[in-house]
Amino acid sequence: MDCQILNKQDDHIWYAFGQDLAKPDNIIDTNQIVICSGNDTVLLDPGGMEIFPNFLAALTEKVSIETIKHIFLSHQDPDIGSSLSLWRRICNNDVKIYLPWMWAGFVSHFDAESSLISVPDEGMTIRLSSGRTLDMVPAHFLHSPGNLNMFDPHAQILFSGDIGAALLPKGPRNSFFVDKFDQHIQYMEAFHKRWLGYSEARDAWIGQARRLGPKMIVPQHGLCFKDDDVDAFLDWLGDLEIGVGVSVMQEVTKLAEAPSTVTPLPKPGPETLSAPSPATSSTVALAESTSSPTLAPDPTPQPQPGNADGTLVIKQDAPLFARIGGDPAVDVVVDAFYSHVLSDPRVSRFFENIDTKNLKKMQKQFMAMVFGGPDPYTGQDMRSAHARLVADGLDDTHFDIVANHLLEVLTNFQVDPPLIDEIMQIVGSTRDDVLNR
Ligand code: HEM
Ligand SMILES: [Fe+2]
Ligand SMILES: [Fe+2]
Repeated sequence: MDCQILNKQDDHIWYAFGQDLAKPDNIIDTNQIVICSGNDTVLLDPGGMEIFPNFLAALTEKVSIETIKHIFLSHQDPDIGSSLSLWRRICNNDVKIYLPWMWAGFVSHFDAESSLISVPDEGMTIRLSSGRTLDMVPAHFLHSPGNLNMFDPHAQILFSGDIGAALLPKGPRNSFFVDKFDQHIQYMEAFHKRWLGYSEARDAWIGQARRLGPKMIVPQHGLCFKDDDVDAFLDWLGDLEIGVGVSVMQEVTKLAEAPSTVTPLPKPGPETLSAPSPATSSTVALAESTSSPTLAPDPTPQPQPGNADGTLVIKQDAPLFARIGGDPAVDVVVDAFYSHVLSDPRVSRFFENIDTKNLKKMQKQFMAMVFGGPDPYTGQDMRSAHARLVADGLDDTHFDIVANHLLEVLTNFQVDPPLIDEIMQIVGSTRDDVLNR
């Protein structure tokens, strides 16, 4: 694990530990931040239990364990503090562990024996033995609803937890600092758009950050911002469209409410079920009218007699494509699927610099085709489409992660379990082609 000094003023030093090339691929890269001030050491978001041995080895080269007086958890996530019980066991008994009050009962699942200090929403100040202070300041809803940052008034550094996080491509790096801000945006964008959902909280946080006036912002993932990049980051964040992912709920409701459109992936219920019998048919609320320009007509199979509410009954032996609800259902599922996949740091690197709008379009065509839909697929075959990614390390782990997102989306949309099985089997059958085997 790498270690770099971020800032040093006499006996007051900020260290970053991370960029661990030995860490397993399916674990997100995290920065473990350590402040040494006089005789005290403070750990900020000490990280997951998987990285504990490497972090401990790197840390003990710099400080002795007995000096660790304070441990701070910005929020409840496992990458923040699932190592807690291991730290508690090696630190002195009087080590103080701080976290947002909301999470005390939850973080105890990591370690029921730790005694935790619940920090109120407004924050709290830690007084170090040198007389200097560290201020826990609110950062709620960004992304966690109970979330704190740590501001160091002496060094003028703000530890921002997941705010400012970047998911960087694999490989060695030589710095913990952003070099060219404009080029760094691509590694932050998808994460912030999806994981931050609440603009009012974002704006309030930016106001607070400007008031504190840090000369450095240090996030828990990716690279730190200093000097002009602090302002560049705050400006960029203020303009960002956040809360993407909400639209998948709005879309479904819109489609369900519009009489002339298709209800995607309905749950069979007595109000939509009709002859011949629930055992031999599954209902799909297909549109009788295809007047909406966004919805393609569904020529296979020919519509059966309609119900009074405008829904049609599709026989069980109709193509899967028709049984799930045709193009509109595929559209909704593929959009939701990519919001999951693109915001999953375990696989998002494969989608850097990819035209995702086009990818979604091709994926919709592909799925519609393999599910038995009428339209041709005009994209590349699975081997060619993924050859570059396989060369870049795409393997079964990533395939499973992506397939699981699809399963999750289908489950969330309450697709019938037998249909889900059918879909997952088809998707599973592409594995060897996608992985170029
Ligand atoms: C689960 C089975 C999968 C299916 C059915 C599938 C399907 C597709 C389709 C239809 C395309 C469009 C090809 C074109 O544009 O002509 C595509 C491209 C792509 N897929 Fe997949 N995919 C699968 C798994 C994965 C996985 C596991 C990843 C990465 C984690 C991935 C990443 C990509 C990327 C990045 C592209 C764009 C490639 C480029 O434009 O260079 N896919 N995939
Ligand atoms: Fe988090
Ligand atoms: Fe995180």
